[in-house]
Amino acid sequence: MTQRPPAVPGVPVLGNALAMMGDVQRFFVNAYRDVGPVFRVRALNQAFVIMAGAAANRFLLERGEAVFSSEESFGGLNREFGMRVHVLRGRPHRHLRKLLGAGLSRDLLAARWDAVTAETARILDGWAGRPALGVVDGCQRLAAAQLSIAYTGASSAARFETLRSAFELVLDVTIAGKWPAATLRWPAYRRARAEIHRFARASLAERAAATREGPRDLLDQALDAVDEHGEPYPLDVRAGMALQGYFAGVNTVAYLYSFMIDVLLRDPGVLARVTAEVDAVLGSGPLTFERLRGLPALHGLVMETLRVYPPAPGSARTAVEAFDFEGCRIERGERVLVATCVPHQLPEHFPDPERFDVDRDFTAARKAAVYAPFSVGGHTCLGAGMTQVLAVATIAMLLRRLRLTPARPGRPLRITATPGPNPGKRFAMSAAARRD
Ligand code: HEM
Repeated sequence: MTQRPPAVPGVPVLGNALAMMGDVQRFFVNAYRDVGPVFRVRALNQAFVIMAGAAANRFLLERGEAVFSSEESFGGLNREFGMRVHVLRGRPHRHLRKLLGAGLSRDLLAARWDAVTAETARILDGWAGRPALGVVDGCQRLAAAQLSIAYTGASSAARFETLRSAFELVLDVTIAGKWPAATLRWPAYRRARAEIHRFARASLAERAAATREGPRDLLDQALDAVDEHGEPYPLDVRAGMALQGYFAGVNTVAYLYSFMIDVLLRDPGVLARVTAEVDAVLGSGPLTFERLRGLPALHGLVMETLRVYPPAPGSARTAVEAFDFEGCRIERGERVLVATCVPHQLPEHFPDPERFDVDRDFTAARKAAVYAPFSVGGHTCLGAGMTQVLAVATIAMLLRRLRLTPARPGRPLRITATPGPNPGKRFAMSAAARRD
């Protein structure tokens, strides 16, 4: 006998919105412990069935492509900015994913290493002497510069604010449901959107006119991309491909950096361990792509930060057919959120999950799809490889150049969701240049 998923008791009127708008990952873990692997929540004006735990990840991996659509959750990104990969299914999806994957590969970072690290060094040096640097803002600017150089060969710094405000609004409206759809008709947003479209199209036109040299990057991929029938994609889709690294990557990468900085500021043991490692490896020369391999504790810091503080802790979908999960019936048309990172906090998958352990072995958890900061299944993140390399490199460079102290010592970490979980605008630090 199947039944409806139980409702999680929440605050009247706003439903569970208040709990979900803060630390969503903790909310999912607590609800999983209290209610079980499938439950219903209301968040602002949306209702979701949450599926969580190892069986939910397996379900997404094995049946996700058959029973779910991403149209309702990600359709806004496609309509507003031509980002089609999120909403396609089946063969057309696999085809576009392959094209994008080639344009977003970690090899591009290797090819553009000198330009990316030079810009990273310039930005980090600019942090020195700042008494109360907003960590999230600083990391967003850094990630935006790094990703746009890696993917397109040029920095998008001049348009950073326009890009950030437009994409945060579109995600808040279409994915988080924080604001009504009419918000996307606001003149300020329409102007920002038009500017972003002009920027993407101009970048493509410039590349088309240039003599091509160097590695084949995201712009090259977008420029002559053809669909699974060999027909050129419409211009808006090719412009969307060019913007993809920016939209999918800047906030998630920046939130990862911010959480890593928070760990370093609060955990002297981890700080000492990774600083010693970086000093030993980089004491004799600059950070080359090859030298990244010699930084296992720093790799552990990245993996463990993604485990404890996942910047994208769920995959939002709509059921295209009714199905049963763990004794409950999910009806066709219901919105579902697979809380892919809930197993990260379960001792059966990660012994002593409250302990932050840079030496943790992730092999078995990865194989069992219970370590899932980049989700699992057909829509798994295409930027995962690039993110991991970039995160190790960035923190290594930061530790070599700067000594960090919290701007408000003792202030606890307060996770907010704007639009994904992050340490919030008020998280600040001061940075001084290292003299030793
Ligand atoms: C810490 C950094 C990142 C995290 C945690 C992250 C997380 C995720 C997650 C959870 C998904 C799956 C969404 C879903 O299930 O619908 C996803 C998809 C995606 N990510 Fe990332 N991401 C990160 C960085 C990046 C970067 C740097 C890029 C570069 C462009 C990127 C590109 C993409 C793309 C294109 C997709 C869609 C794939 C598809 O639908 O087939 N991500 N990411």
